[in-house]
Amino acid sequence: MSISVPKIVLVGGGQIGGVLAQLCAVRRLGDIVLYDVVPDAPQGKSLDIAEASGIDGFDSKVAGTNDVKDMKDADVVIVTAGVPRKPGMSRDDLLTINAKIIQSVGENIKTYAPNSIVIVISNPLDAMVTLMQKTTGFPASRVLGQAGVLDSSRFATFLAWELGVSVKDIKAPVLGGHGDTMVPLVRYANINGVPVMEQLERKYKSADKAKSVMEEIVKRTRDAGGEIVALLKTGSAFYSPASAAVQMLEAILRDEKRTLPVCAKLNGEFGITGYYVGILATLGKSGVEKVMEMQLNAEEQAMFDSSVSAVKKLVEDMGRLGF
Ligand code: APR
Repeated sequence: MSISVPKIVLVGGGQIGGVLAQLCAVRRLGDIVLYDVVPDAPQGKSLDIAEASGIDGFDSKVAGTNDVKDMKDADVVIVTAGVPRKPGMSRDDLLTINAKIIQSVGENIKTYAPNSIVIVISNPLDAMVTLMQKTTGFPASRVLGQAGVLDSSRFATFLAWELGVSVKDIKAPVLGGHGDTMVPLVRYANINGVPVMEQLERKYKSADKAKSVMEEIVKRTRDAGGEIVALLKTGSAFYSPASAAVQMLEAILRDEKRTLPVCAKLNGEFGITGYYVGILATLGKSGVEKVMEMQLNAEEQAMFDSSVSAVKKLVEDMGRLGF
């Protein structure tokens, strides 16, 4: 019998990478390698995290590195490598820079961690996860993206605040691409199975008011990333994306078969083939084990279709830029 501790490689040791490393350690998910191209920085962060082991009581190894070879034999790789958009930079400029980074990271993963499952967080998410799968040549089940877990958590959080109930009892799935066209599924949002819309109507005793309150929450969910960027001024959200990726990681490492909103490649589901889109999928030790199809009404289908069109356009733009 062989007992092995999972090896988790975090590619990108910036804001999200640092929080990821700490969460993985505190939750004792495995041994952690934090890789970045910036000399010494991942080593510094790892040391800082490891020095809390006596307080938080974890034995996980946390190592920082600038050597790609340390990715060797990773079980799961989480990728946050990339640069954020700077003033004066066009969307295409950002797409080109991050695509180059993802391509080189993907080649290294293919070489050093050929059996790993890869979770991509870098933006623009739907394009980056597409490129990661293309570069590694891994089966689609082993390459997925994080967006929906966070978008759904944001939706659920705003609903919990509005209704004065615990967020733990709310399920509020968000599907589609990770961008302005994401699709918060209002009809499916529920508190322990009871539709949220019904509760809003009871609260306001007006269907119109309930509808406008929900529209505001949907808008805030769609704009939530931007709301944080505007407040932080020097970067984008990092605590919540890290938490979201860790939920996916746990589902995989513990073979939990959790059905979560993730960016996965469709193979005929929802009538779409060959594109990465946010949908509900079951995660376990093989990665994406099943995509859950579900009934969408005409309005939801139209929103989903337009979101898929935006993803297709992004992937075409990436192709036009040579990736
Ligand atoms: N290999 C490894 N790391 C790289 C590479 C590379 N080729 N190129 C850049 N990096 C590193 C940077 O040095 C930086 O430390 O990626 C890290 C990115 O960290 P941050 O700039 O702090 O960005 P973060 O907030 O962590 O977000 C990362 O996730 O949500 C998305 O939009 C976000 O694309 C962004 C990504």
